[in-house]
Amino acid sequence: MFDEEEYGEENLLVSTKTEYDAEENVLRPKTMGDYVGQQKVKENLSVYIAAAKARGEALDHVLLYGPPGLGKTTLSHIIANELGVSIKLTSGPAIERSGDLAAILTNLNEGDVLFIDEIHRLNRSVEEILYSAMEDYALDIIVGKGPSARNIRFALKKFTLIGATTRVGMLAAPLRDRFGIINRLEMYTPNELRDIVTRSARALEIAIADDAAWEIARRSRGTPRIANRLLKRVRDFSLVKGNVEITREDARFALSRLEIDELGLDETDRSLLRALIEKFGGGPTGLETLAATINEDANTIEDVYEPYLLQLGFIARTPRGRICLKDGYAHMGLQPGIKARKQISLFESDD
Ligand SMILES: Nc1ncnc2c1ncn2[C@@H]1O[C@H](COP(=O)(O)OP(=O)(O)O)[C@@H](O)[C@H]1O
Ligand SMILES: [Mg+2]
Repeated sequence: MFDEEEYGEENLLVSTKTEYDAEENVLRPKTMGDYVGQQKVKENLSVYIAAAKARGEALDHVLLYGPPGLGKTTLSHIIANELGVSIKLTSGPAIERSGDLAAILTNLNEGDVLFIDEIHRLNRSVEEILYSAMEDYALDIIVGKGPSARNIRFALKKFTLIGATTRVGMLAAPLRDRFGIINRLEMYTPNELRDIVTRSARALEIAIADDAAWEIARRSRGTPRIANRLLKRVRDFSLVKGNVEITREDARFALSRLEIDELGLDETDRSLLRALIEKFGGGPTGLETLAATINEDANTIEDVYEPYLLQLGFIARTPRGRICLKDGYAHMGLQPGIKARKQISLFESDD
């Protein structure tokens, strides 16, 4: 399963702990006003937050989903901030036993936010505790064993669960149905990403020319986390050159050294496309086969790499596997072969 901690410093697409700790806090917007983009989500949430405050009640449970780095964690902090309550952070894989979750829940104060990252990775018995907690603010505990086992119910303070996931399809229906507010975060436009780069540069006290910010923005794969990381790497190159302000030339130079192409694709994206085209005639190829061929983790491909390739229309998911589309071939400077062409037209008529 995809796990951020497993991936090293070299990978620009996933965050690493050290950097996360050092500058993450400075970069995180603290209010809805500072949070760039996601207009509809922000507007709706602002209404629900205002209404919950007016009623003096806890906000309904919120599910945020979308690819990594789009701002789920950041938005959760902002929600708690705007509600004026505290936030407790945990994650699906961190809660091993139902007792762990029971302890977390009983320690929440009235109205608090409990944030569960990667909520699709909760194990079954933990998840079941969550059902009554979410629905009735109650904790159902079974005491004893066998015929003498009894169910005891404890009341919990009213709280808001915010669940975040990159895989909404993996949530069990009973869990998903208990979220009153479900929002999908979308990839950001280059304009929005330029605003984020400019804002981050200001926060990190980096001087950057507008066209340099734009250069980074349009190669950030619609993802703020990547925009921030590229900004930091570009800053390093520019600093070493002794520049006071990051120029477009600096940005272009650094990005080419990082092997990030004009569209923001890196070496892994390109080897994925190349394998799909050259080894499998354009597909369809199963995810696991593709992953083994390029020596990547299948979940990482699915969570981190594919969303942007799908968004660009370079690849498609079909019931029989991944296929490369016309624009994917064009980007790689390759021509669909006879086999591949046939399969693309098959896919199109299927759709
Ligand atoms: N809408 C936004 N505006 C400005 N910065 C953002 C926005 N969304 C995310 N970021 C920045 O991108 C980085 C990744 O965001 P994060 O909330 O950790 O993503 P996720 O939890 O979805 O993986 C953070 O450094 C955050 O500051
Ligand atoms: Mg997160």
